[in-house]
Amino acid sequence: LPSLASSEENFLGCLSEKIPGELLYTQSSSGFMSVLTASVQNARFATNATVRPACIVTASDVAHVQDAVRCGRRHGVRLRVRSGGHDYEGLSYRSVRAEVFAVLDLARLRAVRVRPGEASAWVDSGATLGELYYAVGMASPTLAFPGGACPTVGVGGFLSGGGIGLMMRKFGTGADNVLDARVVNADGDLLDRAAMGEDLFWAIRGGGGESFGVVVSWKLKLSVVPRTVTVAKTDRAFDESTAAVLAKWETFALRPFIPDLTIRAVAQGNRTVFQTLFLGSCSRLVGKMDAFFPELGTRAGDCREMSWARAMAFITLSSSDINVPLEGMLNRTNNLGTYVKNKSDYVRCAVGKAGWESIYREHLSRNGALMMIMEPHGGVVGSVVPDSFTPYPHRSGVLYNIQYVAFWWADGGAAEAANGWINGLYGFMEPLVSSNPREAFVNYRDLDIGQNAVGDDGVTTYESGRVWGEKYFMGNFHRLATVKGKVDPGDYFRNEQSIPPFLPV
Ligand code: FDA
Repeated sequence: LPSLASSEENFLGCLSEKIPGELLYTQSSSGFMSVLTASVQNARFATNATVRPACIVTASDVAHVQDAVRCGRRHGVRLRVRSGGHDYEGLSYRSVRAEVFAVLDLARLRAVRVRPGEASAWVDSGATLGELYYAVGMASPTLAFPGGACPTVGVGGFLSGGGIGLMMRKFGTGADNVLDARVVNADGDLLDRAAMGEDLFWAIRGGGGESFGVVVSWKLKLSVVPRTVTVAKTDRAFDESTAAVLAKWETFALRPFIPDLTIRAVAQGNRTVFQTLFLGSCSRLVGKMDAFFPELGTRAGDCREMSWARAMAFITLSSSDINVPLEGMLNRTNNLGTYVKNKSDYVRCAVGKAGWESIYREHLSRNGALMMIMEPHGGVVGSVVPDSFTPYPHRSGVLYNIQYVAFWWADGGAAEAANGWINGLYGFMEPLVSSNPREAFVNYRDLDIGQNAVGDDGVTTYESGRVWGEKYFMGNFHRLATVKGKVDPGDYFRNEQSIPPFLPV
């Protein structure tokens, strides 16, 4: 077998024969660290202890992606694919274990081509959600895409993990709205939907990034929305009445008959913020709230009417300045000052007023840097779309998703404290959330729920993948592993939580 050093050298030689030198950065290149950290979003993975890539390929053409895969396969060097770099465990640019690998960075591949006439768009994986929303909003005031609430998240990773957001109760998840895609497979071939077949097309729409190939672009179905939508924000200090409002919110979230209305709840410290997006006018929103959720007390004065694109800028960039420029959504600047740890859960039975009182009393009010972001399900995502439509399985019967976030600003003791808080809250929540399995969302990646083991044959074992995989994908995990067994049986595309190949004996 060739030594690691020679396979790395041969790999770099292969790359430099095919790809222009200015797109390649090795650890000794002067620009290496700035390119590497350009889209790192979590200070936990920007330390000297982070296992870094041997090189970064900043592909500016799909042919470079194909060349990188072919060189990597030929010389036994794996690629970590990076679109927006938001992976919560940093798996798009670091390895947990010591390993020689390269980062294939797609930030230069970020065109968005909107076709308003057919309500569709082709978007490259390296575009951010903000760039997508901006392009859609500029092309038409009545078209939209049901994406998430952070403009710097990469389209590639977002859709690879299913992608949930403020309009999924009306239009489904982001990945439910993918019509076609172009993927570079483990042989370096470029395949569209017709060429890849329906099994692989199903798997890439939510089966998690990295596992099946490099998705270079996606054709999206755009949704028709009113010219004017309404946003509202209610910020309440925690007390007995807020506990009662949360208890009502939990069940209201599932009401299938108001899919035009989403109320997201964000609980932090001693406060709860309810963020509302309604696909209609303020007066209709107030009427519905009076009829179905008077406890929240939404009044016309709380409403802001605007276009959908402006609403996304308002919600994601400012939440106080309704004139925040749409161009703000094009800003890709990252924040390297914050350390973050995330975990997730799904709630199928309401926590109830007493439950909320204990969550605040025992956990949130004691730790201001601990947050719960809760996305209501129900509507189309909960009742119309079957659990197996895409790999995202958390649909029928789910009230809402919880994302737990712990922040801190310095390494060392602060990390220990923050991890203690989030683990304490996660432990407390166990009897209140889904079980067998305790569901989790792949886009809120959490390595604590399990990591792959590689067998003597150099391939990830199916059993090790089941441990975390059935939490993310439930009954869809086995189908994902079967697709992986067909398209990448040698397990070239892998990381600590990639889908293992299921190879029937
Ligand atoms: P990144 O580039 O780090 O990739 C993530 C994973 O996908 C990695 O394993 C990577 O290798 C793989 N990958 C990336 N591009 C690929 C490609 N083209 N082909 C194959 N594999 C690829 N999620 C959500 O659903 N709704 C939300 O509202 C939010 N909100 C949110 C806010 C903030 C502040 C953060 C940091 C994150 C979110 N997320 C989210 C989670 C987010 O969707 C998730 O982390 C995505 O994987 C990020 O995609 P990126 O392309 O940015 O990540």
